[in-house]
Amino acid sequence: LTLFTLLLAGCGGKKEAAQNQSSEKIVAKFSHVAAPGTPKGLAAQKFADLVKERTNGRVEIQVFPSSQLYGDKDEFEALQANNVQFIAPSAGKLISFDQRFQIGDMPFLFKDNQGAARFWDSETGKKLLQSLESQGMVGLTAWPNGMRQFMNSKKELKTPGDFKGLKFRIPAGGVLVDIFQALGAGTANIPFSEVYTALQQKVVDGTIATFDNIENEKYAEVLNYLTVANVNNLSYIVIVNKQFWDSLPPDIRETVEQCLKEATEYERQLADQLDQESMAKLKQKIKVHELTPEERQAFVEAMQPVWAKYEPIIGKDLFEEAKRLNQ
Ligand code: LMR
Repeated sequence: LTLFTLLLAGCGGKKEAAQNQSSEKIVAKFSHVAAPGTPKGLAAQKFADLVKERTNGRVEIQVFPSSQLYGDKDEFEALQANNVQFIAPSAGKLISFDQRFQIGDMPFLFKDNQGAARFWDSETGKKLLQSLESQGMVGLTAWPNGMRQFMNSKKELKTPGDFKGLKFRIPAGGVLVDIFQALGAGTANIPFSEVYTALQQKVVDGTIATFDNIENEKYAEVLNYLTVANVNNLSYIVIVNKQFWDSLPPDIRETVEQCLKEATEYERQLADQLDQESMAKLKQKIKVHELTPEERQAFVEAMQPVWAKYEPIIGKDLFEEAKRLNQ
């Protein structure tokens, strides 16, 4: 009887342990640099809420906006070390891992958020996202956030010649350095969290940003002119630490994937809506010049050296696919 009891207890114990293991709480961190009210901020929170609801609280994603946890300088290192599990940097910031991500910063290639999304969702785009796996990261999807515009404190910018001698903040080197160089302007690579102060203290004369970031970061307080040029598209790549991702039980990972899919649909709807709302607000606050088609054409032509330089670096196949999906 004693042995029988012991065996029973043993079984029970094992069963309990197995149950504990299968219901063990999983906590992950999602760090990003944008404000909570931006498409990225709202979508990251939506993703966390959906995951909590669909896993009955078993998986908790804690969202840290506004570079609170990690910023541009250290978020990749933190992700690779699994100190944070999700980040969503703009594609161009992946330059040090794979030059091809700079396609995101190419001038006058993506027409709008939809065109950018079509590229990142395509087989070519997906392959590019998968290329991060060899570096301990998994690229999951893209969250576009509008076209980037020029801003500065000194003068109205209508022609390529107007840029001569000005200095602009850029989020990452490569294509953006060359865009400004082609316009006779200089650049400084400054982390997103430090841009407002850099503009205020005149470390740089201007920046390149989406309406939504311009509005949320209050750049109109410290700058005087905005030129609507729709230079390039700002798309975020949602990236997860590979070790963490692979360690998720398959059913949980499937649920999390489904939640991300829904959060992505939400983000993409919101991006266009907030882009328009922010533009309307900015028109009340700052002098806005919208390039005429002729004026814009002069910029397209000025960007030819950038295209010539980057086509071999990024790859003709990627360019062709992006062009085809943005006609
Ligand atoms: C930037 O650095 O300008 C952007 O990538 C910031 C953002 O929205 O993530």
